[in-house]
Amino acid sequence: MQITVTVNGESRSGDVEPRLLLVDWLRNSLGLTGTHVGCDTTGCGACTVLLDGKPVKSCTVFAVQANGMTVETVEGLKSNGQLHPIQAGFKENHGLQCGFCTPGMMLVGKALLEDNPNPSESEVRWAISGNLCRCTGYTNIVKSIQWAGQQLQSAGDQS
Ligand code: FES
Ligand code: FES
Repeated sequence: MQITVTVNGESRSGDVEPRLLLVDWLRNSLGLTGTHVGCDTTGCGACTVLLDGKPVKSCTVFAVQANGMTVETVEGLKSNGQLHPIQAGFKENHGLQCGFCTPGMMLVGKALLEDNPNPSESEVRWAISGNLCRCTGYTNIVKSIQWAGQQLQSAGDQS
């Protein structure tokens, strides 16, 4: 089937088998390997991308289901050579160790902050509850997302 998806702001088309998973299209056809595969069974969240702005586990979505939609991956976060505040947040707050969970955590965090720019610790923990991290103990991931929210808010206050 022919699909056209706006990926990180660019229109990308492909001829895909209906059974092809979105994560495999992103990684193997588009070369966007920042989207990781941990479990392949909806359990870990490493494959999380934003589909029309909402976090989805791309190992559980067929590529054909994204036809006509927008997808954002971790590669789309940076703009004009500048880290997105959510990326800067993880850097500043030691929000990662091995980094395997990090793209998914950052995309979930970005989506959360768009709905709720000033989340409490428990709201962040709820938002990332579908994403597993085997390294950090989560505390610094929570801090990273809250730090990004503060940055986005102060940027908004100045504009
Ligand atoms: S690889 Fe998709 S949820 Fe684990
Ligand atoms: S930083 Fe290693 S799994 Fe989260």
